[in-house]
Amino acid sequence: MLLLLKIFAGVKEKKLTFKSTNVEETMRFGEKLGMLLSPGDVVALVGELGAGKTTLVKGIVQGLGVTDRRAVKSPTFSLVHTYKGRMPVYHFDAYRLEDAQDMLDIGSDEMISGDGVAVVEWADKVSGCLPKEYLQITLTAVSQSERNIEICGYGRRYDTIINDLS
Ligand SMILES: Nc1ncnc2c1ncn2[C@@H]1O[C@H](COP(=O)(O)OP(=O)(O)OP(=O)(O)O)[C@@H](O)[C@H]1O
Ligand SMILES: [Mg+2]
Repeated sequence: MLLLLKIFAGVKEKKLTFKSTNVEETMRFGEKLGMLLSPGDVVALVGELGAGKTTLVKGIVQGLGVTDRRAVKSPTFSLVHTYKGRMPVYHFDAYRLEDAQDMLDIGSDEMISGDGVAVVEWADKVSGCLPKEYLQITLTAVSQSERNIEICGYGRRYDTIINDLS
């Protein structure tokens, strides 16, 4: 149904899958992605507890020119962290949020599709406040150290990124 709605709305999706065998590989993948991102881009991360979302964000922010990777931690309690890289990076964690309204209440509107890049952990919980076009990354644990990373781009802007990643 969702797929039908997206097609109806004119937003096509493009997919890519990648297998990571260790933490460093996930971070390197994130770094490569971070280097391709521009102001206004939105990355929606989906995956269970411990799937590797924050690990991926560490790589992404490094690729965006944030030098202190250790500063990147799940903003579970503060809900959003802002890092200074080539552009602002807004790192959300929606784990404790109920719905999109909670995201709006913390001021997400200004930060999503604004002057920087927005990266949202547990994005499926707040899908109502994502723009029509965004990059969705779903992480799945296959074993203790293996992760499936599925990248799905909604919108032409993200086709370019997926082409550059593949
Ligand atoms: N290939 C891998 N890629 C990423 N993390 C891995 C990998 N293999 C093992 N791990 C481990 O999985 C865990 C991932 O934790 P991380 O905080 O990134 O997950 P998360 O999805 O953000 O979880 P949460 O929902 O609790 O915020 C870490 O302990 C990390 O060491
Ligand atoms: Mg996390």
